[in-house]
Amino acid sequence: MIQSLRGMNDILSEDFERFEYFIATASAIAKRYGFHYIETPLLEETALFKRSVGESSDIVGKEMYQFIDKGENDVCLRPEGTAGVVRAFIQHKLDKKGGIHRFYYHGPMFRYERPQKGRLREFHQFGIESFGVDSVYEDALMIMMVSDILKALGIGYRLKLNSLGDQHCMPSYREKLVNFVENCGDAICGDCERRKLINPIRVLDCKNETCQSLYTNAPKLINNLCDGCQSDFDTLKMILDQHTIAYEIDTNLVRGLDYYSKTAFEFVSDNIGSQSAIAGGGRYDRLIEFLDGKPTPAVGFALGIERLLELIVMPESVREGYYFGAMDAEAITPILLAAEKIRRTQKAVVEYEPRSLKAHLKGADRINARYCAVIGENELAQNSIWIKDLVEKTESVISLNELLSL
Ligand code: HAM
Repeated sequence: MIQSLRGMNDILSEDFERFEYFIATASAIAKRYGFHYIETPLLEETALFKRSVGESSDIVGKEMYQFIDKGENDVCLRPEGTAGVVRAFIQHKLDKKGGIHRFYYHGPMFRYERPQKGRLREFHQFGIESFGVDSVYEDALMIMMVSDILKALGIGYRLKLNSLGDQHCMPSYREKLVNFVENCGDAICGDCERRKLINPIRVLDCKNETCQSLYTNAPKLINNLCDGCQSDFDTLKMILDQHTIAYEIDTNLVRGLDYYSKTAFEFVSDNIGSQSAIAGGGRYDRLIEFLDGKPTPAVGFALGIERLLELIVMPESVREGYYFGAMDAEAITPILLAAEKIRRTQKAVVEYEPRSLKAHLKGADRINARYCAVIGENELAQNSIWIKDLVEKTESVISLNELLSL
């Protein structure tokens, strides 16, 4: 029997209800904040991710679904959403137009990681990208949006915050960090040897225990910020305090993607096991010019939908629409006509097999219908239909002509 690929799941109806509820809730909040939907292709040129997410990242280095297509193009399934949205932003010349452009999106992402609980090879993100606002107020807005979305879904969280500095303070910090790492000698792992050469700051989130203990005394970027970055970071903390959004400073939070500068944040949940990051984001002011666009400040985030599904507190489901059933084969024709009429404005589900009234009531219950509408022998003779309101627990018989002319 052919099975789905490892780490790639079907989404069946009960999960999909949660999935749909998540998308509806998050989209409504994004629109309320003035964001517009954008959709970009699942497949992009590999170079896009190499130049944005970065060659030193695990995502590009180890996890891409990359192949040569029939036209000899080097392409890959998108491992994340930001790069594609930035590509679209530049391609459609919105960078040249100037002004503020705010987008939201959702869809599947692909990373060839080792599958485990909360870590999939095909997973879904809900993301936000904001272009053109050179103010830390927009960074705060991102955090408020994630917080609003999680609150609306009844999900608790911890927020981790860091500043990754910018082109003014990062180079001298990088030098200090490299000196420190070099003094650790051969004790560091092979991955850190590689990171030290390509993107030293990534050593700080190495999962190797020896490395972690070696780096406890490493210089911290947060103590080496330039005045501009320090002032933005202080303002961000002040805004979050004013909005009573609690945060923890995590000086090792460097994020797994190379495009960030200044604000970096991650929302984690303590209720989903080791893959605890439920959202992540930050500022990426240099990325648009790295991808040949006009320099434009930008900030964004993405939520991992699968990791949130089991945490969502769903509203109580309400009975809705009609279940139609016949007790006699002859009654199926008027049943179909009645269902078609109702379906113009409400849900209407038809059972084709003639069944007893009891069986039809069970069927209506199974699909959570508000009304169970049945035509039996008597109703057929009188050209009428029996309807039970399963909420009010009332019954009535109405003329079919009346229903069809509604
Ligand atoms: P990210 O931190 O790589 O950021 O991913 C965002 C979220 O996607 C994570 O917090 C996690 O919930 C979920 N996620 C990541 N990998 C997996 C996986 N293998 N299985 C299940 N869920 C996963 C980004 O992707 C950035 N593009 C976010 C961003 C937008 N930054 C600025 N704008």
